[in-house]
Amino acid sequence: MCSKPVIIIGNGGHARVLIDILLMQKREIIGYTAPTEENNRYNVTYLGKDEEILKYDPQEIELVNALGSVSDTRHRANIFNIFKSKGYTFSTIIHPSAIISDTVILGEGVQVMAGVVIQPFAKIDDNTIVNTSTSIDHDCCISKHCHIAPGCVLSGGVFVGEGTHIGTGTKIIQNVTVGKNVLVGAGSLVLRSVGDNKKIYGSPAKEVSK
Ligand SMILES: CC(C)(COP(=O)(O)OP(=O)(O)OC[C@H]1O[C@@H](n2cnc3c(N)ncnc32)[C@H](O)[C@@H]1OP(=O)(O)O)[C@@H](O)C(=O)NCCC(=O)NCCS
Repeated sequence: MCSKPVIIIGNGGHARVLIDILLMQKREIIGYTAPTEENNRYNVTYLGKDEEILKYDPQEIELVNALGSVSDTRHRANIFNIFKSKGYTFSTIIHPSAIISDTVILGEGVQVMAGVVIQPFAKIDDNTIVNTSTSIDHDCCISKHCHIAPGCVLSGGVFVGEGTHIGTGTKIIQNVTVGKNVLVGAGSLVLRSVGDNKKIYGSPAKEVSK
C-alpha cells in the first residue's frame, strides 16, 4: 500500500468518510483544501484553496478527491482531470471491510466504502465512488467519474457509462447498459438499458425530462 502523505480536496460529508478510512490506515494527512476554511471534525489542517496543492511536488504526495456528489458528477471529474494534467496521482481508497475479488480491476482514485462487495472480473474505472454497502456483481464495468451511491445492487454484467450517477438504493438487473452522464434517481429499479444523458427514476425506472 502507498504510504505517501495525502492532501484532501474538499471538507464535506464525503471527506469525513474518507478521512475515517485514511486514519484507520494510518496514512499521513497533510491537510485539506476548500474555497474557505471550515470546521474540520477531525482537526485536519486547512491549507487554502485548491491551488495551494501546486506548491507540493507531485512525486511526494497523493491527492484524495473528497468532493461528494448527490446527482451531478462533473465537479469531481473536473478536479480529477485538472490535477492529473499537472502530474498528480489520486489515492485509491478501500475501506478494510470491503470484499473485493482478486480478479477485480480498480482504476486510479477509486473509492470503495464500508461494506461494499465487488465480485469477480468487475472493472471500476478512475475516480469512481462505490459507496457504502453497494454490491457490484461479476463482470460489471463501471466507467470513469461515476458515483454508485450507498446501498445499490448491480447484477452481473452491468455496464455504466462515464460520469453517471446511480442514486441511493437503486437496483439494476443483469446485462443492462446505462449510458454516460445518466442520472438514476434514488430507489430506482432499472430493467432496461438506458441511452446517454438521460434522467430516469422509479420502479421500474422511466425517463423523465432533464
Ligand atoms: C432524481 C432527483 C435528482 C430529483 O430529481 P428532480 O426532477 O429534481 O425531482 P424533484 O425533487 O423536483 O421531484 C419531482 C417529482 O419526482 C419525484 N421523484 C424525485 N426523485 C424521485 C425518485 N428517485 N424516485 C421516484 N420519484 C422521484 C418527486 O417525488 C416529485 O414527485 P411529485 O411531483 O409527484 O411530488 C433526486 O430525487 C434523487 O433521486 N437524487 C439522487 C440522490 C442520491 O443518490 N444521493 C446520494 C447521496 S450519497
